[in-house]
Amino acid sequence: MIELKDLTYVRLGTRDLGTAESFATGVLGLEIRERHRNALYLRSDQRAHSLCYFEGPPEEQIIGFEVESAAALNAAAAALENLQHKVHRGSASEAEQRYVSEFISFRDPTGNQIELVIRPQLSAKRHFPSRDAGITGFNHVGMNSTDPVRDEAFWTQVCNARVSDRIGDIPLMRINAIHHTLALVQSSKPGIQHINHQVAEIDDVMRSYYFLKERNVPIVFGPGRHPTSGARFLYFKGPDGVIFEYSCGVGEIANEATHRPRQFTREPLSFCMWGATPGGLIPGV
Ligand SMILES: [Fe+2]
Repeated sequence: MIELKDLTYVRLGTRDLGTAESFATGVLGLEIRERHRNALYLRSDQRAHSLCYFEGPPEEQIIGFEVESAAALNAAAAALENLQHKVHRGSASEAEQRYVSEFISFRDPTGNQIELVIRPQLSAKRHFPSRDAGITGFNHVGMNSTDPVRDEAFWTQVCNARVSDRIGDIPLMRINAIHHTLALVQSSKPGIQHINHQVAEIDDVMRSYYFLKERNVPIVFGPGRHPTSGARFLYFKGPDGVIFEYSCGVGEIANEATHRPRQFTREPLSFCMWGATPGGLIPGV
């Protein structure tokens, strides 16, 4: 069993680093950690970085998870190879580019690019965002899945994810107490479905709603409230069509031993109990 400890980063390819930088700093509200000739490293919390834009095809979208130790990383590589996943062992310079000590990369059954890392760096420097969006941290990702039932089995049986709730066949899965760290949404191709940052309170969600609207940033869902996690949310579109979410008040699973996933209907109210429609985010709902 591959024990995922935490979500570490996302890496997004882009053809236009300049636009990505103005969005990340002027709209989303992250802090520049480092600017290289062909990559931009951004912080959102105590992590040394949690988002990297790099010069490359926008289809290249990578999600990094932390595992416990070098032994756990080697065991994960062996388990994945055993299941016929092609595993790449990151070079020292590739690891340096990710602020981690070692990593491996592979693709999940849909083809999503996943990296498992050890010893991701934190920074003692307080996160000081470029815009006061109220971000308290990088929290979770939605992933595309060409077969959510098959992929749920991968994430829960090969890895340690547990289903907290389902909406139709969309599993919201946790790897720690937080209600969900990853979700799988039906799609015809691999990729990141959305990237979530937590904000401090509902006032931050609403402030950003007006801020984004005024700047013509496409809002794709919300403001609203998820009946599953209880989070109040807002989804909007960034460069290369990548969807970002601000939310606050995401619930925790109080009792790991006794929690049973709830099955919600696949209708708009299961995504937003206030009545916002998720059409821009979940096709066909
Ligand atoms: Fe989310």
